[in-house]
Amino acid sequence: MMTKPRTMIAGNWKMHKTAADVESFFKDFIPLTKHVNPTKTEMLIAAPYTLLATAKAAVGKANIRIAAQNVHFEAQGAFTGEISIAMLKDLGINATLIGHSERRQYFAETDQTVNKKLLACLQHGILPIVCIGETRAEREAGKTGTVVTTQLRGALAGVKDAKDLVIAYEPVWAIGTGLTATNAQAQEVHALIRGLLKEQFGAVGDSIRILYGGSVKSDNVAGLLAEKDINGGLVGGASLKADEFAKIANA
Ligand code: PGA
Repeated sequence: MMTKPRTMIAGNWKMHKTAADVESFFKDFIPLTKHVNPTKTEMLIAAPYTLLATAKAAVGKANIRIAAQNVHFEAQGAFTGEISIAMLKDLGINATLIGHSERRQYFAETDQTVNKKLLACLQHGILPIVCIGETRAEREAGKTGTVVTTQLRGALAGVKDAKDLVIAYEPVWAIGTGLTATNAQAQEVHALIRGLLKEQFGAVGDSIRILYGGSVKSDNVAGLLAEKDINGGLVGGASLKADEFAKIANA
């Protein structure tokens, strides 16, 4: 029997918080999560660029990884407003979200740009957390499987070594809506993703963490995590409050 990979509880702060908010968040969050066992659960927070250094300093030696929410695939150049992997590494940041549905929806990210970002992250040794998921219209049209397959295959095109990679399945209709996929609906798609990962990477596919995201809260996280192929959560709204996010991490 395959043992489940280490759980990841990841927060996505999106475009929220100031430096003062970050200080007070961690002042509360760190003591509330001191019993979270780092060998079983990895905690991570994806913060806005301007707060990465503050968050990193505020976390200190606590078991909480700080990640970016996006990164550019080029090493440097005339890309006004963008941030490179080297710039993240310069701040001691070694993980980033990629292809979040809001980036796809509002900032024209495609499977091709997600793929370029993923390849660049793997090449430079920073952990990519790749987000995929169908819209409500796609689900209602029975296209969930094809959409998720296309997005995953697109993101992973040309990837050979997938040891350090996390996938987040986030149905767009569940993000910020309070509508969570049922445990069974989520597991069904996670099983599909697991199959595709094993098809591409063989046994390594079993060790790749697949997070569920979309209105995860302290009262629904345990049921989701009990599913076979759900290895953690990507949490938006409920990660903004220290006590609620700590409850999720402790679950
Ligand atoms: P939500 O967001 O938890 O607020 O639904 C999840 C996400 O967008 O990552």
